[in-house]
Amino acid sequence: MRSLPSPRGPVTEQLIASLGQVPGSLGSPALPGFGDPLVDEDLQLALYLCYELHYRGLPGVDDRWEWDPGLLALRSGLEREFERGLLDAIPRERDPVPPADIDLALRAIAEEDGPSLSSYVKVSASLDDVLEFVVHRSAYQLKEADPHSWAIPRLSGAPKAAMIEIQSDEYGGGRAEWIHAELFARAMRALGLDSEYGAYLELIPGVTLATVNLMSLFGLHRRWRGAIVGHLALFEMTSSIPNRRYAEGLRRLGFDGDATLFFDEHVTADAVHEAIAAVDLAGGLAHQDAALSADIVWGARALAHLDARWASHVLERWGEGRTSLLAELPVREHDVVAASR
Ligand SMILES: [Fe+2]
Ligand SMILES: [Fe+2]
Repeated sequence: MRSLPSPRGPVTEQLIASLGQVPGSLGSPALPGFGDPLVDEDLQLALYLCYELHYRGLPGVDDRWEWDPGLLALRSGLEREFERGLLDAIPRERDPVPPADIDLALRAIAEEDGPSLSSYVKVSASLDDVLEFVVHRSAYQLKEADPHSWAIPRLSGAPKAAMIEIQSDEYGGGRAEWIHAELFARAMRALGLDSEYGAYLELIPGVTLATVNLMSLFGLHRRWRGAIVGHLALFEMTSSIPNRRYAEGLRRLGFDGDATLFFDEHVTADAVHEAIAAVDLAGGLAHQDAALSADIVWGARALAHLDARWASHVLERWGEGRTSLLAELPVREHDVVAASR
């Protein structure tokens, strides 16, 4: 990220202004009412910025902000709103799933019908559509696997071993060039996009940032350890087939090599991860602590819900012939790439 994004409302206005100063200068800002916290631009960007302090930090911002009490108080207020929106949209189930049925419950969620962005990309998306899709995904994929890694010290025994097995692949199994976030950066460059971390934050809408904030919320709070495990399990279980379609869409548009490697890699890797995630990780955690099974399923449902909202938003905008980002992508090398193919 080269500079802080523009504010999107009163909360980000005050947060961004304070981050340019020394820690301690935030005060205790009152939160406005948020209509729909799951897509609110001001709320989701503010949360994303608060969380980024725990990942790569923010440009020109003092690293001590990460643990600034004023900032944490603001973050906690924003999280309360986000959680309220999630619980309103995805009611908690009354009867917890027995630990032995966790993988079946997750499979049922994975098989629910939703808007299929991957089918659209495979068959009909234009190059501009695909570039927008990649920009949306960059909000997560350039730090792929990091939010789930917060859960590692909170697990023990079988589910911990399962999570490490998955995360080790996500992080390239000892080879930096195979780190999935690096593969994604390579795909971005092959498509003529800017692969710098956070380069497109200015353009990424709240509906997309919410999908990433969900993982940070679950990962950073130990009380949500069941939910982050359910999230990772469903993520792995719903990855292989869509990634095959994304790769096919890119090939239809004439791309290959670095542009498709990230997607091809996920077709095979996640076919393996899927079983480890559902049975050993999620099932293993529920066996260790049956009280977490409701959270495991709910975390998966939250992912499915926010993903469906994001996909509907993107498909709806494209259907209207409009950009799905906050503004059109700037003209960059991708036009040269497109012209030279
Ligand atoms: Fe991955
Ligand atoms: Fe994976």
